[in-house]
Amino acid sequence: MKGRTLLLLGAWLAFVVLGTTYVMKAVGKRAAMFKQVTEGEARAAEAVGRLQASLKARLTEAMQSGGPAAAIEVCAEAAQPLTEELRGDAGFFVGRTALRLRNPSNAPDDFVLEWMAKAASRSSAAAPLEAATKVEEFIDGDRLLHFWQPIYLGAQCLACHGSAEQIPAEVRALLADEYPDDRATGFAEGDFRGVFVARVPLPKIGG
Ligand code: HEC
Repeated sequence: MKGRTLLLLGAWLAFVVLGTTYVMKAVGKRAAMFKQVTEGEARAAEAVGRLQASLKARLTEAMQSGGPAAAIEVCAEAAQPLTEELRGDAGFFVGRTALRLRNPSNAPDDFVLEWMAKAASRSSAAAPLEAATKVEEFIDGDRLLHFWQPIYLGAQCLACHGSAEQIPAEVRALLADEYPDDRATGFAEGDFRGVFVARVPLPKIGG
């Protein structure tokens, strides 16, 4: 009788210890994954902030020195290399995209495309949407953090994205030349224009 009670007690103890270890490990893994996402979001937001600031600095400088006609050349020539450079610095993908694209190489991925089509296209600067994220999970355990931040048009954007009357003739000519499939005109101030995006890889956490 005594032996059997001891055996049962032993089995029960082993069960509790193993169970607790398992739960602790799972909790630890979840906490590590959560921390990885939070850190990824901070890195994404920082890289997007840097891209936004350097594009804005370039645009403002060109607009002040030569107006829209000079700025459009700078934009057309500098936007892609500048974005590439920031990708290199960040070590992950960062860029801009939209539903109505000017440069087809800025095409969105599925997550962002769906979000823009459903949520964002009807929003405006008067009631702007916040940045959003989504974690994509792969079979091998790796994950990819998608981060995107809406862009609304200011008055200074209309010389290149506004109505035909708002876009100077030289700019219209250059747009027709450089971007024959341009769909990024006809916007008004405050309209949703697109998003800054970042995609941060989140490597698998062991266990
Ligand atoms: C001087 C002309 C000019 C002005 C002003 C301008 N843009 Fe653009 N914009 C461009 C050009 C050219 C491109 C294509 C760049 C490329 O090749 O990636 C572009 C591309 C974009 C894109 C990338 C998506 C796409 O359609 O390819 C976004 C988003 C954007 N502009 C938003 C803005 C906003 C917001 C402003 C105002 C702060 C602005 N632009 C002002 C010329 C301009």
